[in-house]
Amino acid sequence: MPTLKLRRIICSWTIVVIFFATLSPLSGHAATREPVRAKNGMVASQHVLASQIGVDIMKKGGNAVDAAIAVGIALAVVYPEAGNIGGGGFMVIRKRDGSTHAIDYREMAPAAAHRDLYVDSEGNIIRGEGGSTVGYRASGVPGTLAGFDLAHKKYGSGTIAWKDLVEPARKLAEDGYVLSHRLSNLFIAYKDTLSKYPESNRIFLRDGDYFKEGDTLKQPELAQTLERVRDNGAAEFYTGKTAEMIAADMKANNGLITMADLKNYVAKERDPIRGRYRGHEIISMPPPSSGGIVMMQVLKMLEQHDIRAMQHNSAAKYHLYTEASRRAFADRAEYMADPDFADVPIANLMNETYVNARRATIDMKKATPSTAVKFGEFAAAKEGTETTHYTVVDADGTMVSNTYTINDLYGSRVTIKGTGILMNDEMDDFAARPGTPNLFGLVQGERNKVEGGKRPLSSMTPTIVLRKDGSVWFAVGARGGPRIISAVIQTVINVIDHEMNIQQAIDAPRIHHQWLPDEIMYEMYGMSPDTMNILTGMGHKFVARPGNIAQATGIMVAEDGTKLGAIDGRGDGEAVGY
Ligand code: GLY
Repeated sequence: MPTLKLRRIICSWTIVVIFFATLSPLSGHAATREPVRAKNGMVASQHVLASQIGVDIMKKGGNAVDAAIAVGIALAVVYPEAGNIGGGGFMVIRKRDGSTHAIDYREMAPAAAHRDLYVDSEGNIIRGEGGSTVGYRASGVPGTLAGFDLAHKKYGSGTIAWKDLVEPARKLAEDGYVLSHRLSNLFIAYKDTLSKYPESNRIFLRDGDYFKEGDTLKQPELAQTLERVRDNGAAEFYTGKTAEMIAADMKANNGLITMADLKNYVAKERDPIRGRYRGHEIISMPPPSSGGIVMMQVLKMLEQHDIRAMQHNSAAKYHLYTEASRRAFADRAEYMADPDFADVPIANLMNETYVNARRATIDMKKATPSTAVKFGEFAAAKEGTETTHYTVVDADGTMVSNTYTINDLYGSRVTIKGTGILMNDEMDDFAARPGTPNLFGLVQGERNKVEGGKRPLSSMTPTIVLRKDGSVWFAVGARGGPRIISAVIQTVINVIDHEMNIQQAIDAPRIHHQWLPDEIMYEMYGMSPDTMNILTGMGHKFVARPGNIAQATGIMVAEDGTKLGAIDGRGDGEAVGY
């Protein structure tokens, strides 16, 4: 039985929720704050200082791509849990001329990596130091600066020099910034692993004299690194003094990344995933992300049903969503990986006849156990943790949807000696042993096995949605491993089917199902017990997520051109516009 105090809290929250629900134009709409509004450009990111830096770049004549690069480098300073230059990610761009582009700057496995890298002599997965989640051997070769360099050269405005994109971040690293309650506490929450690596212990834990809210974090080594990157370009990270420092620290600590690995890193342009949902074009990330394909498969299964009539939080909708998601994630596990290493049948997976056949196996009255759902078979021949998302739109309507990551919060927990660079643990996104769950409980197949030079499969889903007339409507992405995909899909249907604005769509409660484990993850306080009872009766199993299911960030362009910026109520950050 809940205590009296708890009952009072539940009771008062119920009253608040009922009150706001009555103000909502459509029952089931989340009661949320207003999105931030601006006439010209807008940046929505998980730190106000980074958002402001992006806006300043646009005010100086830079476009959304220039601004996105400056925001990304600034987040490496002010949002060390996920912002990075020691990780990688994906940037989806829709330019004002209508062209769309997808930049893959995902980390690449070092050449020495191989299938059984994370398996010991007895065949057990190596956990902890030496494994794929923490320590020097957990890192892939970072791609962030190579990706930003490519984006700047090809899609930047041409009016803002590289050094002007790096300098604001360098200054923040040198001068320091004031830590919020959340950021100061998050270092302490990760102290057990951060403290194992001397540079991380010194910089982020002050050797045990922990930061408190209101303290200033200065990162002089990172400032020096950024000074070199500012002056020498992205090549500094891959062939310059910084590369030498990374390779030397790796060598001294049994890591795998060498000078040759850094020199061989390339950011790549990919053809974006393009699909339609109820007449709206959706542009998202292709492999090595699974995000775009899984999203389009789920949307195509949902499109055959009247989701609006089902209403936002109904058992019927959650059942359908779960069943579609279960099937799409089963395909993810089997078919998706780095397309440069494995045959990823993108066209087959996106084929409407195929997706319809998958949908036809859904029983609308009861759950199909995941053990009975395998990846789909094709009739046609085969064709030849943690993360942060931000979105930028400029006054001309060029939109950037960028998700990048060091995987787990604070990545591998390793800060490279003398550089201030916190490294990723992206190697955990490979299948360390195909068939065994990773950090996020995801089961993955042979195609995504560890191989030197390969990129691990991702769930990052930076997405742009167009209006029916082809103009940009909104962009959204999220952090949260595979839960990213669920957050993005549910935001899209909240806007398109349930007519929510971007803030409501992002804040609304959501669920997640990833085939295995066979359970619906739900947000505490986000699901009514009555709905759960109905779904349990249909054969669904539940697991509560005490925190949240992903954190999303988005921007919508209203019909009159006003930009609406939205940061998820589940996290921090701020949208800034002008
Ligand atoms: N590291 C999370 C992802 O790429 O999906």
